[in-house]
Amino acid sequence: MTESAQEFYGRWARLYDLIARRTPGIARLRDRAAAACRLDPGDTVVEMGCGTGANLPYLRERVGPEGTVIGLDFTGPVLERARAATAAYDNVHVLRGDATRPPVGSEGSEGDAGEIDAVLATFVAGMLEDPADAVDDWCDLVGPDGTVVLANAARSQEWYAPPVNAVFRAIVVLSTPPTTKLRYEDDPHRRLDEKIDAAHARLRERAIAVADETHVFGVVRLTGGRLE
Ligand SMILES: C[S@@+](CC[C@H](N)C(=O)[O-])C[C@H]1O[C@@H](n2cnc3c(N)ncnc32)[C@H](O)[C@@H]1O
Repeated sequence: MTESAQEFYGRWARLYDLIARRTPGIARLRDRAAAACRLDPGDTVVEMGCGTGANLPYLRERVGPEGTVIGLDFTGPVLERARAATAAYDNVHVLRGDATRPPVGSEGSEGDAGEIDAVLATFVAGMLEDPADAVDDWCDLVGPDGTVVLANAARSQEWYAPPVNAVFRAIVVLSTPPTTKLRYEDDPHRRLDEKIDAAHARLRERAIAVADETHVFGVVRLTGGRLE
Protein backbone atom coordinates (compact mmCIF):
# COMPACT_ATOMS: atom_id res chain seq x y z
CA MET A 1 0.00 0.00 0.00
CA THR A 2 1.31 3.49 -0.83
CA GLU A 3 2.56 5.88 1.83
CA SER A 4 -0.24 8.39 1.12
CA ALA A 5 -2.90 5.72 1.62
CA GLN A 6 -1.26 4.76 4.92
CA GLU A 7 -1.32 8.42 6.02
CA PHE A 8 -4.94 8.67 4.97
CA TYR A 9 -5.93 5.68 7.06
CA GLY A 10 -3.82 6.86 9.97
CA ARG A 11 -5.83 10.09 9.99
CA TRP A 12 -9.32 8.64 9.75
CA ALA A 13 -8.98 5.42 11.81
CA ARG A 14 -9.94 7.13 15.07
CA LEU A 15 -12.90 9.03 13.60
CA TYR A 16 -14.08 5.96 11.76
CA ASP A 17 -13.91 3.92 14.93
CA LEU A 18 -16.12 6.49 16.64
CA ILE A 19 -18.72 6.40 13.84
CA ALA A 20 -18.54 2.62 13.65
CA ARG A 21 -19.31 2.20 17.35
CA ARG A 22 -21.45 5.22 18.25
CA THR A 23 -23.84 5.87 15.35
CA PRO A 24 -27.39 5.54 16.73
CA GLY A 25 -28.80 2.10 15.94
CA ILE A 26 -25.45 0.62 14.97
CA ALA A 27 -25.00 -1.49 18.12
CA ARG A 28 -28.31 -3.22 17.46
CA LEU A 29 -27.35 -3.81 13.84
CA ARG A 30 -24.04 -5.39 14.88
CA ASP A 31 -25.81 -7.59 17.39
CA ARG A 32 -28.35 -8.70 14.77
CA ALA A 33 -25.61 -9.31 12.20
CA ALA A 34 -23.77 -11.55 14.68
CA ALA A 35 -27.04 -13.37 15.49
CA ALA A 36 -27.70 -13.92 11.78
CA CYS A 37 -24.38 -15.79 11.55
CA ARG A 38 -26.15 -18.61 13.47
CA LEU A 39 -23.07 -19.40 15.51
CA ASP A 40 -22.82 -22.03 18.22
CA PRO A 41 -20.24 -22.09 20.99
CA GLY A 42 -17.00 -23.49 19.58
CA ASP A 43 -17.67 -22.33 16.00
CA THR A 44 -15.28 -20.43 13.74
CA VAL A 45 -16.31 -17.16 12.10
CA VAL A 46 -14.38 -14.89 9.74
CA GLU A 47 -15.17 -11.20 9.36
CA MET A 48 -14.09 -9.88 5.97
CA GLY A 49 -12.98 -6.23 6.10
CA CYS A 50 -13.26 -6.04 9.89
CA GLY A 51 -11.93 -2.46 10.05
CA THR A 52 -11.40 -1.28 13.60
CA GLY A 53 -13.07 -4.43 14.91
CA ALA A 54 -16.47 -3.12 16.04
CA ASN A 55 -18.17 -6.47 15.24
CA LEU A 56 -15.56 -8.71 16.83
CA PRO A 57 -16.87 -8.59 20.44
CA TYR A 58 -20.36 -9.55 19.23
CA LEU A 59 -18.94 -12.51 17.33
CA ARG A 60 -16.76 -13.53 20.28
CA GLU A 61 -19.82 -13.52 22.50
CA ARG A 62 -21.55 -15.99 20.14
CA VAL A 63 -18.69 -18.49 19.72
CA GLY A 64 -17.60 -18.34 23.36
CA PRO A 65 -14.13 -19.09 24.69
CA GLU A 66 -13.84 -22.38 22.72
CA GLY A 67 -14.68 -20.76 19.39
CA THR A 68 -12.51 -18.79 16.99
CA VAL A 69 -13.04 -15.31 15.56
CA ILE A 70 -10.86 -14.08 12.71
CA GLY A 71 -10.96 -10.48 11.55
CA LEU A 72 -9.40 -9.82 8.16
CA ASP A 73 -8.60 -6.42 6.68
CA PHE A 74 -5.98 -5.04 4.30
CA THR A 75 -5.43 -1.75 6.15
CA GLY A 76 -2.70 -1.71 8.80
CA PRO A 77 -3.76 1.23 11.02
CA VAL A 78 -7.35 0.02 11.46
CA LEU A 79 -6.09 -3.45 12.28
CA GLU A 80 -3.95 -2.03 15.06
CA ARG A 81 -7.12 -0.62 16.59
CA ALA A 82 -8.92 -3.94 16.14
CA ARG A 83 -5.99 -5.75 17.78
CA ALA A 84 -5.93 -3.38 20.72
CA ALA A 85 -9.71 -3.68 21.18
CA THR A 86 -9.61 -7.48 21.30
CA ALA A 87 -6.26 -8.01 23.06
CA ALA A 88 -8.02 -9.54 26.07
CA TYR A 89 -9.28 -12.51 24.00
CA ASP A 90 -6.83 -15.14 22.89
CA ASN A 91 -9.35 -16.66 20.47
CA VAL A 92 -9.87 -13.46 18.45
CA HIS A 93 -7.27 -13.16 15.70
CA VAL A 94 -6.79 -10.12 13.52
CA LEU A 95 -5.08 -10.74 10.20
CA ARG A 96 -3.91 -8.51 7.41
CA GLY A 97 -5.05 -9.76 4.03
CA ASP A 98 -7.34 -9.31 1.05
CA ALA A 99 -10.98 -10.27 1.60
CA THR A 100 -11.24 -11.28 -2.06
CA ARG A 101 -8.40 -13.78 -1.56
CA PRO A 102 -8.75 -14.59 2.11
CA PRO A 103 -5.70 -16.31 3.62
CA VAL A 104 -7.95 -18.58 5.68
CA GLY A 105 -9.78 -21.85 5.29
CA SER A 106 -7.23 -23.85 3.33
CA GLU A 107 -4.66 -26.15 4.83
CA GLY A 108 -1.51 -24.38 5.91
CA SER A 109 -3.09 -20.96 5.39
CA GLU A 110 -2.08 -18.13 7.70
CA GLY A 111 -5.34 -18.15 9.63
CA ASP A 112 -5.25 -21.90 10.17
CA ALA A 113 -8.98 -21.64 10.81
CA GLY A 114 -9.94 -25.20 9.90
CA GLU A 115 -13.62 -25.38 9.02
CA ILE A 116 -15.31 -22.00 8.76
CA ASP A 117 -18.91 -21.87 9.96
CA ALA A 118 -19.76 -18.32 9.00
CA VAL A 119 -18.51 -15.26 7.13
CA LEU A 120 -19.64 -11.75 8.01
CA ALA A 121 -18.98 -8.63 5.92
CA THR A 122 -20.41 -5.28 7.02
CA PHE A 123 -19.96 -2.09 4.95
CA VAL A 124 -17.39 -3.79 2.72
CA ALA A 125 -19.20 -4.86 -0.47
CA GLY A 126 -19.22 -1.33 -1.88
CA MET A 127 -15.43 -1.21 -1.71
CA LEU A 128 -14.81 -4.35 -3.74
CA GLU A 129 -14.25 -4.39 -7.48
CA ASP A 130 -16.66 -7.31 -8.01
CA PRO A 131 -18.63 -7.86 -4.81
CA ALA A 132 -20.90 -10.59 -6.25
CA ASP A 133 -17.81 -12.58 -7.12
CA ALA A 134 -16.49 -12.12 -3.58
CA VAL A 135 -19.84 -13.31 -2.16
CA ASP A 136 -19.51 -16.44 -4.32
CA ASP A 137 -16.07 -17.10 -2.87
CA TRP A 138 -17.31 -16.56 0.69
CA CYS A 139 -20.19 -18.99 0.08
CA ASP A 140 -17.68 -21.56 -1.17
CA LEU A 141 -15.49 -20.91 1.86
CA VAL A 142 -18.20 -21.77 4.40
CA GLY A 143 -19.61 -24.66 2.34
CA PRO A 144 -22.85 -26.59 3.00
CA ASP A 145 -24.69 -25.51 6.13
CA GLY A 146 -22.37 -22.53 6.58
CA THR A 147 -23.71 -18.99 6.78
CA VAL A 148 -22.81 -15.77 5.01
CA VAL A 149 -24.09 -12.44 6.31
CA LEU A 150 -23.87 -9.04 4.62
CA ALA A 151 -24.82 -5.61 5.92
CA ASN A 152 -24.56 -2.49 3.79
CA ALA A 153 -25.97 1.00 3.62
CA ALA A 154 -28.16 1.45 0.57
CA ARG A 155 -30.20 4.35 -0.73
CA SER A 156 -33.49 4.86 1.09
CA GLN A 157 -36.56 6.73 -0.17
CA GLU A 158 -37.67 7.81 3.31
CA TRP A 159 -38.01 11.55 3.89
CA TYR A 160 -35.34 11.44 6.59
CA ALA A 161 -32.96 9.38 4.49
CA PRO A 162 -30.53 12.04 3.17
CA PRO A 163 -28.73 12.81 6.45
CA VAL A 164 -28.68 9.16 7.46
CA ASN A 165 -27.46 8.11 4.03
CA ALA A 166 -24.77 10.75 4.33
CA VAL A 167 -23.44 9.25 7.55
CA PHE A 168 -23.14 5.82 6.04
CA ARG A 169 -21.76 7.13 2.81
CA ALA A 170 -19.15 8.84 4.98
CA ILE A 171 -18.24 5.51 6.56
CA VAL A 172 -17.46 4.10 3.15
CA VAL A 173 -15.75 7.18 1.77
CA LEU A 174 -13.70 7.68 4.90
CA SER A 175 -12.43 4.15 4.63
CA THR A 176 -11.46 4.46 0.99
CA PRO A 177 -7.97 5.75 0.16
CA PRO A 178 -7.75 8.67 -2.30
CA THR A 179 -6.60 6.43 -5.14
CA THR A 180 -9.69 4.21 -4.81
CA LYS A 181 -12.05 7.16 -4.39
CA LEU A 182 -11.19 8.38 -7.89
CA ARG A 183 -12.93 5.35 -9.31
CA TYR A 184 -16.21 6.49 -7.77
CA GLU A 185 -16.05 10.02 -9.10
CA ASP A 186 -18.35 9.56 -12.11
CA ASP A 187 -21.42 8.78 -9.97
CA PRO A 188 -20.43 7.53 -6.56
CA HIS A 189 -23.90 6.87 -5.16
CA ARG A 190 -25.26 4.93 -8.10
CA ARG A 191 -22.13 2.83 -8.47
CA LEU A 192 -22.16 2.01 -4.78
CA ASP A 193 -25.83 1.03 -4.80
CA GLU A 194 -25.27 -1.21 -7.83
CA LYS A 195 -22.44 -3.01 -6.09
CA ILE A 196 -24.46 -3.51 -2.93
CA ASP A 197 -27.50 -4.73 -4.88
CA ALA A 198 -25.30 -7.20 -6.75
CA ALA A 199 -23.73 -8.57 -3.56
CA HIS A 200 -27.03 -9.06 -1.72
CA ALA A 201 -28.72 -10.52 -4.81
CA ARG A 202 -25.91 -13.07 -5.24
CA LEU A 203 -26.24 -14.14 -1.61
CA ARG A 204 -30.01 -14.59 -2.04
CA GLU A 205 -29.39 -16.71 -5.15
CA ARG A 206 -26.80 -18.90 -3.49
CA ALA A 207 -28.32 -19.43 -0.04
CA ILE A 208 -31.54 -19.95 1.89
CA ALA A 209 -32.53 -16.73 3.62
CA VAL A 210 -31.92 -16.67 7.36
CA ALA A 211 -32.10 -12.89 7.72
CA ASP A 212 -33.61 -10.16 5.58
CA GLU A 213 -33.91 -6.95 7.57
CA THR A 214 -33.29 -3.25 7.46
CA HIS A 215 -31.71 -1.27 10.28
CA VAL A 216 -30.55 2.18 11.31
CA PHE A 217 -33.55 4.17 10.05
CA GLY A 218 -34.02 1.78 7.16
CA VAL A 219 -30.81 2.54 5.32
CA VAL A 220 -28.79 -0.52 6.31
CA ARG A 221 -29.73 -3.78 4.67
CA LEU A 222 -28.93 -7.01 6.49
CA THR A 223 -29.04 -10.22 4.46
CA GLY A 224 -28.08 -13.60 5.87
CA GLY A 225 -28.03 -16.88 3.98
CA ARG A 226 -27.41 -20.52 4.85
CA LEU A 227 -25.72 -22.62 2.18
CA GLU A 228 -27.33 -25.92 1.19
C1 LIG B 1 -16.35 0.80 5.87
S1 LIG B 1 -15.14 -0.19 6.63
C2 LIG B 1 -16.12 -1.36 7.57
C3 LIG B 1 -15.38 -1.97 8.71
C4 LIG B 1 -16.20 -2.93 9.58
N1 LIG B 1 -16.65 -4.08 8.83
C5 LIG B 1 -17.35 -2.23 10.24
O1 LIG B 1 -18.50 -2.66 10.07
O2 LIG B 1 -17.11 -1.25 10.97
C6 LIG B 1 -14.55 -1.15 5.29
C7 LIG B 1 -13.30 -1.90 5.63
O3 LIG B 1 -13.08 -2.86 4.59
C8 LIG B 1 -11.70 -2.94 4.36
N2 LIG B 1 -11.53 -3.50 3.02
C9 LIG B 1 -12.00 -3.02 1.85
N3 LIG B 1 -11.66 -3.82 0.84
C10 LIG B 1 -10.95 -4.84 1.39
C11 LIG B 1 -10.31 -5.98 0.83
N4 LIG B 1 -10.34 -6.26 -0.48
N5 LIG B 1 -9.68 -6.81 1.68
C12 LIG B 1 -9.63 -6.55 3.00
N6 LIG B 1 -10.21 -5.48 3.58
C13 LIG B 1 -10.86 -4.64 2.76
C14 LIG B 1 -11.19 -1.52 4.54
O4 LIG B 1 -9.81 -1.50 4.85
C15 LIG B 1 -12.05 -1.03 5.71
O5 LIG B 1 -11.41 -1.24 6.94
